[in-house]
Amino acid sequence: MKTSKVTIHTLGSMKQRGEKITMLTAYDATFAKLLDESHIDILLVGDSLGMVIQGQDTTLPVTLDEIIYHTRAVVRGTRRAQIVGDMPFMSYQHSVETAMLSAGRLVKEGGAHAVKLEGGAQHAELTSRLVGAGIPVMGHIGLTPQSFHQMGGFKVQGREEGGAARLIADAKALEDAGAYSIVLEGIPSEIAADITSELSIPTIGIGAGPDCDGQVLVIYDLLGMNDEFKPKFVRRYEHLATRIRTAVDAYVADVKAGGFPADAETFFLEPQKRPARKRATVSAIAHVGGCAPEPRDEGDDGDGNSDGAGAGAGGLYSTVKKD
Ligand code: KIV
Repeated sequence: MKTSKVTIHTLGSMKQRGEKITMLTAYDATFAKLLDESHIDILLVGDSLGMVIQGQDTTLPVTLDEIIYHTRAVVRGTRRAQIVGDMPFMSYQHSVETAMLSAGRLVKEGGAHAVKLEGGAQHAELTSRLVGAGIPVMGHIGLTPQSFHQMGGFKVQGREEGGAARLIADAKALEDAGAYSIVLEGIPSEIAADITSELSIPTIGIGAGPDCDGQVLVIYDLLGMNDEFKPKFVRRYEHLATRIRTAVDAYVADVKAGGFPADAETFFLEPQKRPARKRATVSAIAHVGGCAPEPRDEGDDGDGNSDGAGAGAGGLYSTVKKD
């Protein structure tokens, strides 16, 4: 298992060795850290955040500033994975010049290691300009969600007469322009297999069958966060929607019943300053081995400084999460 940073060269070598590439979406530092610790090769700050984070019906409303904001968060949580920033709708379609500036912001302000853009041969010139400027480009062909209205919905692509040839030509045009990998979304498995064997750069599939060089899923889909959304290509490895509801139901019940917080989750005055009744309760719980707070130094108010001063939000956290 690799521990050095994943680069475009790492990914190229993985294809040559026949080692599958793993990619997931991430939108914040907490998820990024967890996924990175599981040795995910690529974290995509996808414009899918419009749907799973913002609750929009499509990815179209997502702005470049929003992708930059989430990319920064993901960068902070990541040590090993390559971080790809998704170019949102209309941040690159208008002209090569605006696209260059958009991609530049994603790298400069967001900290992305590469950018992804939807579309094939029509973006060959842009791809070659970006690569010339030192910005690695991941292509994305097939079902391209930013063309939702043009496609007439989220539909499998390439089944029509000439569809396979068009997709292969798009993939080749992006490779020739310097793209280092291509996402193949929502296309028949046979076409994805042909593209993968024709290209020397890795293909990453989503709804494109098992023969791609790697696979990508939206992390919320993999974790089963939305039990109303289960397209054919998604495999749920968890049912977090149910588990989160169960946990929150328990919290609500505890609060309503006065069972949360318990003494173990509560800050107290120093023993000599406590009213007599409270002093008795805390020492009784400690005596019977209940969930009383860990014994602390006199004057410890929970901020770890033993200064008796108010901890503030950071201090409160430091009692729970110590680095
Ligand atoms: O935005 C996104 O999450 C994507 C992946 C589904 C490839 O583009």
